Amino acid sequence: MIKVGIIGVGNCAAALVQGVEYYRKSRVKIGLIKERIGKYRVSDIDFVSAFDVDVNKVGKKLSEAIFTMPNSVSWVKKISVGKDVIVKESPVLDGVGRYLGKVVKPKKSNKTLHELKKEILKELETTGTEILINYLPVGARRATEFWASIALEAGCGFINSIPVFIASNPKWAKKFEEENLPVIGDDIKSQVGATIIHRALTQLCILRGAKINRTYQINVGGNTDFLNMLERERLYFKKISKTEAVRSLIRGIRDEDIYVGPSDFIPFLGNTKLAFIRIDGSMFAGIPFTIELKLEVDDKANSAGAAVDAIRYCKLALDRGIGGALIGPSAWLMKHPPIFYTDEDAFKLAEAFERDTQ
Ligand SMILES: NC(=O)c1ccc[n+]([C@@H]2O[C@H](COP(=O)([O-])OP(=O)(O)OC[C@H]3O[C@@H](n4cnc5c(N)ncnc54)[C@H](O)[C@@H]3O)[C@@H](O)[C@H]2O)c1
Repeated sequence: MIKVGIIGVGNCAAALVQGVEYYRKSRVKIGLIKERIGKYRVSDIDFVSAFDVDVNKVGKKLSEAIFTMPNSVSWVKKISVGKDVIVKESPVLDGVGRYLGKVVKPKKSNKTLHELKKEILKELETTGTEILINYLPVGARRATEFWASIALEAGCGFINSIPVFIASNPKWAKKFEEENLPVIGDDIKSQVGATIIHRALTQLCILRGAKINRTYQINVGGNTDFLNMLERERLYFKKISKTEAVRSLIRGIRDEDIYVGPSDFIPFLGNTKLAFIRIDGSMFAGIPFTIELKLEVDDKANSAGAAVDAIRYCKLALDRGIGGALIGPSAWLMKHPPIFYTDEDAFKLAEAFERDTQ
């Protein structure tokens, strides 16, 4: 079993827990990038601790909290994984922004940060949490750094699914290296999401000798993640992360010729995310061409599809005593890894990592 703790019991967490339940119950294993990583199957993932700030989630069982509003993922009703886990209190810090604050009411706490930290470390110890996965809202930089420090102190591997730079920040990566703990990050790259599709199209154009002159990617959705991202000041790292994921493949493209970003909140879309991608290029004899593509996808299945692999790579590293930023798995599964590779090379590196840790 892989003992995982969840930071932020929102829609991504709901999808991850329900997805693990789905693969435990189902004999059909379609929909996975990898059925096994090392000796681990998705069904080996267990949830042993969980943390949030929402007054409606803290104190509840994880199996109930994942279905609590404003969460809206509801694929598998009866949850047996992590069924006795109670959601514990996390410090709010910069977790709840202006827009999210309209739907998430943080529990009123009379505990100091120091007291909460002690409680959290105790919970991680008693539950034997091995890996923490960070699902805080975009813009939660202080809260993410708080939890990265907790992982270091508690001796947990850390998966940073959000665009605050930890694995890709040499200062943080070094701390994980010094403690001999693995970190995978940053900002999860969805299974069949806008980033990987945009990257694949970009690579295809370059491989076929075309020049990319201009490109954009516009994303809209209707869940709390998109609601939170209406607050533009919280998007600084998200913008870098999403843009660099594409720009890293196009040598010399000017800032004004690339736009990649979350763009709007449309409530009735719920967890359906729409991405509109356009590439303007020049081919043989300088003749122009255009590609336009629309992706319609469940945003949360997409994130959980990558998270189940990140968890298993992280566990392999723990088993082998490998610390620091995991370069191959991060490049394959994250939008803003410590080192960018093409997706094909990143997959090869992740495969090599798996082989070398057998
Ligand atoms: N495809 C994807 O869904 C995808 C891809 C890449 C990155 N991400 C990122 O993953 C993160 C989680 O996404 P989500 O859809 O689950 O968001 P969400 O809004 O559904 O969930 C966030 C949860 O964090 C809780 N929270 C807020 N402040 C907290 C704090 N200080 N401590 C603990 N919990 C706190 C909220 O109460 C909520 O339960 C977001 O940053 C998102 O951008 C998602």
